[in-house]
Amino acid sequence: MMSAPRTITLAFTGASGLPYGLRLLECLLAAEARVYLLYSPAAQVVARHELDLTLPTQPHAAASFFGERYAARPGQLTVFAREDWLAPIASGSNPSDAMAICPCSMGTVGALAAGLADNLIERAADVMLKERRPLVLVPRETPLSTIHLENLTKLSRAGAVILPPAPGFYGRPTTIDDLVDFIVARVLDQLGVAHSLGPRWGEARITPPTVERA
Ligand SMILES: Cc1cc2nc3c(=O)[nH]c(=O)nc-3n(C[C@H](O)[C@H](O)[C@H](O)COP(=O)(O)O)c2cc1C
Repeated sequence: MMSAPRTITLAFTGASGLPYGLRLLECLLAAEARVYLLYSPAAQVVARHELDLTLPTQPHAAASFFGERYAARPGQLTVFAREDWLAPIASGSNPSDAMAICPCSMGTVGALAAGLADNLIERAADVMLKERRPLVLVPRETPLSTIHLENLTKLSRAGAVILPPAPGFYGRPTTIDDLVDFIVARVLDQLGVAHSLGPRWGEARITPPTVERA
């Protein structure tokens, strides 16, 4: 059941598929969620390669950049540095309501499966698992090695939702945006955030306002 969006941690790591993460951020902000955003240096490299997009390194610059891009309310979006151990999400005493890592690299999958908690993305995810809060991973690699599969199985057993970016084609997608929205809709469902991204199986398209792309 969908509830009022609360605080969601969103991390981008260095797997291909940043368009999923950006669209997820846009939809979370449009849904009035409070968002804590984190991204890895490898995600910045991928952003340049995939989208010609330079993600600011400094957290306050990143918050301004994304806040303006997606018209966030003041205070709605906070960006934390890679080793900001004073961030609320670094502790089980103050976790967010749910977290997504989208896209999630196999490197981060391995680190999470090993419990490394060596940067704030890994630590925040580690906290979600130990506190039994929703953690959604959108892992991207193909093909998957046995190591990847074993790590993903371990994380699934620990409570994470493994949600590969594998869009269905039964909705007759015609654009890349349609494919992206298919996956983002499934992530939002897992986070308990209401959305109107495309019809659900067995239902006519319902009409809450769509989120236009920035
Ligand atoms: C353009 C580009 C695409 C990449 N795509 C993937 C990918 O799809 N999956 C993956 O696991 N790693 C991918 N990598 C490699 C990761 O970025 C690399 O393993 C990095 O160490 C991950 O670090 P992070 O998990 O801290 O972001 C890619 C790297 C680049 C530069």
